[in-house]
Amino acid sequence: MKQALETIRTNAEELLKKADSEAALEELRVRFLGKKGELTAILKQMGSLSNEERPVMGALANEIRTALDTEIRARSKELADALMEARLVAESIDVTLPGAKVAQGKRHPFQQVLDEMKEIFLGMGFEIKAGPEIELDHYNFEMLNMPKSHPARDTQDTFYITENMLLRTQTSPMQIRTMEIQKPPIRIICPGRVYRSDAVDATHSPLFHQIEGLVVDKGITFTDLKGTLEAFIKKLYGENTRVRFRPHHFPYTEPSAEMDMSCFKCGGKGCSLCKGEGWIEILGCGMVHPKVLENCGIDSEEFSGFAFGIGLERIAMMRYGIDDMRLLYENDLRFLRQF
Ligand code: DAH
Repeated sequence: MKQALETIRTNAEELLKKADSEAALEELRVRFLGKKGELTAILKQMGSLSNEERPVMGALANEIRTALDTEIRARSKELADALMEARLVAESIDVTLPGAKVAQGKRHPFQQVLDEMKEIFLGMGFEIKAGPEIELDHYNFEMLNMPKSHPARDTQDTFYITENMLLRTQTSPMQIRTMEIQKPPIRIICPGRVYRSDAVDATHSPLFHQIEGLVVDKGITFTDLKGTLEAFIKKLYGENTRVRFRPHHFPYTEPSAEMDMSCFKCGGKGCSLCKGEGWIEILGCGMVHPKVLENCGIDSEEFSGFAFGIGLERIAMMRYGIDDMRLLYENDLRFLRQF
C-alpha cells in the first residue's frame, strides 16, 4: 500500500508540473483527491491492513492529500499570475508616445472684437437686436428721411431684389423697426452684415459689417451721446484714448457728427496708420431726427434720442493692425491663426 501511495504522489506531482490551465488542474484534483479519486480508492482498502500498519498508512495518505492540495493551489496561483502578466504585457500603453493632437479652432478676429463690443454695451444696459439683411426700401431709406430723390442715396448704391426690396446698405433701418414695435426707453445695438455695390479693394468690400446703436428716452441729450461713445471707446482701446466730434450730416440725425479717436498706434502724434493725422474716424452719430421719431409714432416733444453707426471692419483692422480688409474675408488659416 505504501508503494501505491508513493506512486500516486509521484504521478500526481509529475502531471501537476505539466498542467497548463485551470481546467487541467481541476481534472487532476478530481482524479487524485476527488470522492472517486485514486487516493480515496486506496484509503478504502485500509480495512485489510493490520492494526499497526493502519495508522501509519493513514498518516501517509493524509500527508500526501495535504501536499497535493497545497501543490495544486500553488500551481493554480502560478497559472493565474502568468495569465495576468501576459495580459499586462499585451495591453500595456506606451505613455511616452506623443498623443494625437486635437485640432482646436477659434473665433474669427471679427467675432472676437464683436464679442468684446457686445460685452461693453451689455454692461451699459443695451439690448442686442438682429434684423433682416434683405430690407425694404421703406426701412432702409424712406423712414430715415432719405426719399427716392435724396442725394445721400448716391453713396449707398446697393443690390436691388425688386424696386422696393434691397440688400440693406446700413444697419440704421433697425432703428425704425425697433421704434415701431417698442416704446421708450430704448437702448439697443444691432450688429450685422450690410451691402453696397462697391468694388473690392484694401478698404472696400460689397459686404461689410456695422453695429447700429439707438437710445431713446425722456431727456436724452448730446451729452449722453458723447459720454456713452467715449466710455465705449475707452473700454475698447484703453483709458488714454481721446475722442473728438466733427460736425457732419446724416438725414436721420440732427445735429449729426462723426467721431474720431486718437490713433491707438501713435497716441496722436501721427503715423502711417492714421496717415499723419493723429486721429482716426471711427463712427457716425447724432441726435435722432424729430421726424424719424414721429415716423415711428414717438412724440418728439416728449422723447429724444441719439443713434450711432460703427464700421466693424475698421475697428477690427485697427485693433489688430491689419492693413488690408480683404484678409478678413479670405479665411486663409495662416492669417487667421495669428489672432
Ligand atoms: N448709417 C450710417 C452709414 O452707414 C452710419 C450712421 C451715422 C448711423 C449716423 C447712425 C447715425 O445711426 O446716427 O454710414
